[in-house]
Amino acid sequence: MSMVVRISKYSTDYLVYKLLRAQHRSGEEIAAELDISRTAVWKAIEKLRSAGFDVDAKTRKGYAISSEPRFSPYHLADIVFTEMGDMVEEIYYFDVTTSTNEKAKEILKPAILLFAEEQSAGKGRHGRTWISPRGGLYFTITLKPELGIEDIPKVTLVTGLAVAKAIGGKIKWPNDVMIGGKKVCGILCELAGEVENPIIIIGIGINVENEIPEELKERAARLADFYSRSRLDVLRSVLRNFRSEYRKLRDGRWDEVRQDLLELCETLGRQVRVVTPAGVFEGIAEDIDESGALVVSGRKVYAGECIHLR
Ligand code: BTN
Repeated sequence: MSMVVRISKYSTDYLVYKLLRAQHRSGEEIAAELDISRTAVWKAIEKLRSAGFDVDAKTRKGYAISSEPRFSPYHLADIVFTEMGDMVEEIYYFDVTTSTNEKAKEILKPAILLFAEEQSAGKGRHGRTWISPRGGLYFTITLKPELGIEDIPKVTLVTGLAVAKAIGGKIKWPNDVMIGGKKVCGILCELAGEVENPIIIIGIGINVENEIPEELKERAARLADFYSRSRLDVLRSVLRNFRSEYRKLRDGRWDEVRQDLLELCETLGRQVRVVTPAGVFEGIAEDIDESGALVVSGRKVYAGECIHLR
């Protein structure tokens, strides 16, 4: 089933959902409170019903939500808008889509979050595929950077840190998040839009309860193998941390971010092989420097892939 639900902070159905969740309201009260017509209220209630909510209409008391589905795009919207504040204005919820990063590039708007239950063409770094069956978390955040050009590459590090803190993981430079030595999360940051007015596309994939294909089990794992936590709970903490870490970067507090990275980065101190645009070499990962580069036996690596040898 291919469908998309778009909800903004100001969508009538979302606002009605929030009002009815809090308490009984008559159609008239809702209409007055939101400054909309009774017909618009009725349409919003129909939308909630078709999303699986039972909305009772009682004489005198008015409308109330008597039962909620376990999950709906409204629940997602609520988490996103609560945790991300003014960083996200709108969510796009896909049951299935090709890739939330690709969709973000088509829509090309900042301040949105795209979420998919399943991706049919999930993208990984270095042109690889990201296998994205149901049960995992697959989402993309788009932002106007509000950063100096030198800070843009750090966004990917900040994102890895936010996820690592949220799930109790370690970072494999630049931004894989690992638990028990296996990868549980991948991050794909891309730039889109015009050069003078870029949009950062931050794609995050976390294995939560999804099946890991047999051939990947040696290197990849899922959160359910370590502890049980719902997808939405994981999402909530990732977003909360992302907002706070990103703010540090934007507010000139990169040094604090860097200190945490140094602590959580399991690449440091290891013998590594790095595959960079300038070639492949091996050495000891010594530091993450001021600019976010990995220092390998004295050489700075700004971008590339890093393989832990020992
Ligand atoms: C990696 O190779 O480690 C990066 C994987 C990034 C996967 C996420 S899932 C959500 C978003 N949409 C995509 O197609 N890719 C990213």
